[in-house]
Amino acid sequence: METKILDQNNIEIVGQLLRNGEIVAFPTETVYGLAANAIDEAAVTKVFAAKDRPQDNPLNVLVETKDMMKQLTVDIPDYVDVLVDTFSPGPITYVLKNAGKVAPNVSGDLTTIGVRIPDHPIALSILKYTGLPLAAPSANKSGRPSPTTAQHVIHDLSGEIAAIVDGGKTNVGLESTVIDCTGEIPMILRTGLITKEDITEVVGACDMAPSLEMPSNKYKHYTPEVPLILVQSETQLIELVEEEKRKNKRVGVIVPEAVQDMHVQKMYILGKEETENARNLYDVLRAIQKTEVDVVISAPFKSKIVMNRLEQAASKVVHKAD
Ligand code: TXA
Ligand code: MG
Repeated sequence: METKILDQNNIEIVGQLLRNGEIVAFPTETVYGLAANAIDEAAVTKVFAAKDRPQDNPLNVLVETKDMMKQLTVDIPDYVDVLVDTFSPGPITYVLKNAGKVAPNVSGDLTTIGVRIPDHPIALSILKYTGLPLAAPSANKSGRPSPTTAQHVIHDLSGEIAAIVDGGKTNVGLESTVIDCTGEIPMILRTGLITKEDITEVVGACDMAPSLEMPSNKYKHYTPEVPLILVQSETQLIELVEEEKRKNKRVGVIVPEAVQDMHVQKMYILGKEETENARNLYDVLRAIQKTEVDVVISAPFKSKIVMNRLEQAASKVVHKAD
């Protein structure tokens, strides 16, 4: 299949493809999504196949409005109204009881679905044009970092999907916060830009899920091509770089800015600001090539969500006491 490369002027073409059961990648404010008509079981199957996604890892669904969110779900707790009014459109996915309107393979054996209103003009115009709920996980091969540019999507999925809408680099750069809203208190399943504190401030309470409750937690994420070691201090970074060099390894480092006098094969610069770190992380993880380095060591970063994603990508995390 030849994958069409489109832009924001081609919304009608995208809409037609989606209505015809094809799958299309487009930008949201977090990362690029790979979308299918959520009502069309065969189209949803294509998303799992293109991503090599295990069937038991549910897809979330993008919708344009709160009304559409309500049509797809039942027994919505009152606090969800307040959260939606505060944070949506935005980087937050609500897991709610499924009304059964979307194709059954969207969320497998679960009785819930994850729903999100994205805050991106291209995503919103596609949703508006089609009037459909769109099943849309991140547009990467399973296990790879989520795509933050059209080039990342082309790398992973070119030839396997009908089209990619190029809308430039995404703004947030990391996936949405996922919260389970089926209980009395919202519970965070995946951390993101919207934090436990943000949610607590609005509705009075918010729990963190025990780490294994997320369907996707069984699977490895964001893996770069070579082992990635995450350290907790600059001293540890310098020591470990020397240790790996003594083993004749070609060493790369992930650092906020270039470090003078550190002689390594590659320096991957993540930036000094937290928002910059989040925006650049997946680009950096994808830039790591086994033809260039044997091991990469990452400095610690201030942002909790950047650290969360680095921990998941790392083959080893060196703790303070080690
Ligand atoms: O920011 C985002 O959420 C991006 C953009 C494209 O919208 N999407 C995204 O999709 O990151 P995905 O599929 O890579 O991550 C969605 C996560 C998965 O880890 C999945 O396990 C979880 O949400 N999820 C989806 N439906 C769920 C459900 N019913 N119950 C619990 N977790 C669910
Ligand atoms: Mg994903």
